[in-house]
Amino acid sequence: MSDLKRGLSEAVAAAFAAAGLPAELGRVTPSDRPDLADFQCNGALAAAKTARRDPREIAAGVTATLAADPRLSAVEIAGLGFINMRVSDTALSERANEIAADPRLGASVVEARRRILVDYAGPNVAKPMHVGHLRSSIIGEAIKRIYRFRGDLVVGDAHFGDWGYQMGLIIGAVMDEDPFIKALVEQLNGRNQPVSAEEEKTAFAALHDRVSLEDLDRLYPLAAAKGKADIEYRERARRMTAELQAKAPGYHLLWRHFARVTKVALERDFHALGVDFDLWKGESDVDDLIAPMVKELDAKGLLVDDQGARIIRVARQGDKRDLPPLLVVSSEGSAMYGTTDLATVLDRERSFDPDQVLYVVDQRQADHFEVVFRAAYLAGYAPEGSLEHIGFGTMNGTDGKPFKTREGGVLKLNDLIEMTRTKARERLREADLGAELDPDAFDDTAHKVAVAALKFADLQNFRGTSYVFDLDRFTSFEGKTGPYLLYQAVRVKSVLRKAADEGAEAGEIVIGEPAERELALLLDAFDHALAEAYERKAPNFIADHAYKLAQAFSRFYAACPILIAEPPVKASRLALASATLRQLELALTLLGIETPERM
Ligand code: ARG
Repeated sequence: MSDLKRGLSEAVAAAFAAAGLPAELGRVTPSDRPDLADFQCNGALAAAKTARRDPREIAAGVTATLAADPRLSAVEIAGLGFINMRVSDTALSERANEIAADPRLGASVVEARRRILVDYAGPNVAKPMHVGHLRSSIIGEAIKRIYRFRGDLVVGDAHFGDWGYQMGLIIGAVMDEDPFIKALVEQLNGRNQPVSAEEEKTAFAALHDRVSLEDLDRLYPLAAAKGKADIEYRERARRMTAELQAKAPGYHLLWRHFARVTKVALERDFHALGVDFDLWKGESDVDDLIAPMVKELDAKGLLVDDQGARIIRVARQGDKRDLPPLLVVSSEGSAMYGTTDLATVLDRERSFDPDQVLYVVDQRQADHFEVVFRAAYLAGYAPEGSLEHIGFGTMNGTDGKPFKTREGGVLKLNDLIEMTRTKARERLREADLGAELDPDAFDDTAHKVAVAALKFADLQNFRGTSYVFDLDRFTSFEGKTGPYLLYQAVRVKSVLRKAADEGAEAGEIVIGEPAERELALLLDAFDHALAEAYERKAPNFIADHAYKLAQAFSRFYAACPILIAEPPVKASRLALASATLRQLELALTLLGIETPERM
């Protein structure tokens, strides 16, 4: 099954070839002037340039060939030599019926299935997620779903940040604050036999009562600030990190407690957002690979000594910016952020053998990834070009800087979700929606509206662009927003429910009215939007499609009555409405957005 754009491109390409011109000039795109045409081809202008001929004359030749195409009701030359095409109602009806009967709603699959690993969210131990992790979670989840739907074998990994310098910082800070913990940890560190299961259980119970995620969250920023200002404090944290990595029993136990409490809260936030991972691996999971990896890198002659540390130089001649080397082993002997990332490349290569790894991480980490990727290629850990950083801009405050709370702190994801839900309830009441729902259903709808608001506000922009956090706008039921899309989807559902109650059934789609044409053409455009989103790792193409589809439905519904139409027309319009709903819901699902049944 092929969309109209592709089908027509083939015909126009053949017409170009028949005229002795390059076939690739026959590329067809949706028309810039929907009032004049459905599709257009600008190839005659390019052909005229190289062949030094009159573009209108070339276009005339191509048009003459196309005139016989049964799919087209009109082929015309416009302006300097643009070829304008109008699809016949019959061809459009046929395509609409095909889409309506297709479980994939007109979407094709990739020709060759690839193995893709998506590294996203990247939450950290001892830190609740904040708005910075929001974008990675939202975009990464959408990319994972889009790739999977296109037919690739996709694995999503959270890549938990649990093995770096922050661990030493937080271990030190907690021990400073609580003498009981300090004594416990030191006692365990001082022994040389492993901690028994029984001892571990008692220790965890004590830690459970003493250190919560709130404590970690309170202590971490203080410790981080102190580490910046105070050399001795910083060195101690580095030492503790190295000892943790060497598995000092006390530090390791305390660290396991941190990871546990953090994970509980993270799971709650991810669940609320509709984000889930196939793999929950952390930096620490590759710890065993690090020593042999360092040895191997050394044997390959890639490691260079640098003031007690060991590095890999990755700068290349002709680099446009200065790239630092990859710090593999710190002067304290510990693994760094880049070290675990390099070992993770190796681990994934061995366990999953991906064709491509997509790192959905803030644009500001671009240099970090460039350095890690180059080191990985130098070491032969991944095929050149298989690692890709999918960067994104920041969510900013009205001051144009990364979003902060009014008090100047980072906004916790959980608080953001809560805040958005409250706003969604308000918005629903304002719009007089959901009044007849019972409290649970109302809450469920409000939650879905909130998630749609946050996700759509993010995904409607090309990921590289930064955007301004504006809860009022995000949650509005008007304009290009998630709530608007849900509202339109729910409207279709309600029409279909009414029809079902009356016993009216969907039938063959027969396209005639302009609003029906517009809707059918959009249904046809889904596959292209999906392919763009896939190739450019850019969910905004699907967000855009969903928005246009919802708008087109709205116009169709205003212009073409469904429930009061005569039987065959009614059956056709019901089928069109149902296909629209299914494609809209599919597009939203790919964006990670769920639609309520009612509102
Ligand atoms: N934990 C990191 C952070 O919060 C993001 C991890 C991204 N993924 C990776 N493989 N480095 O900045």
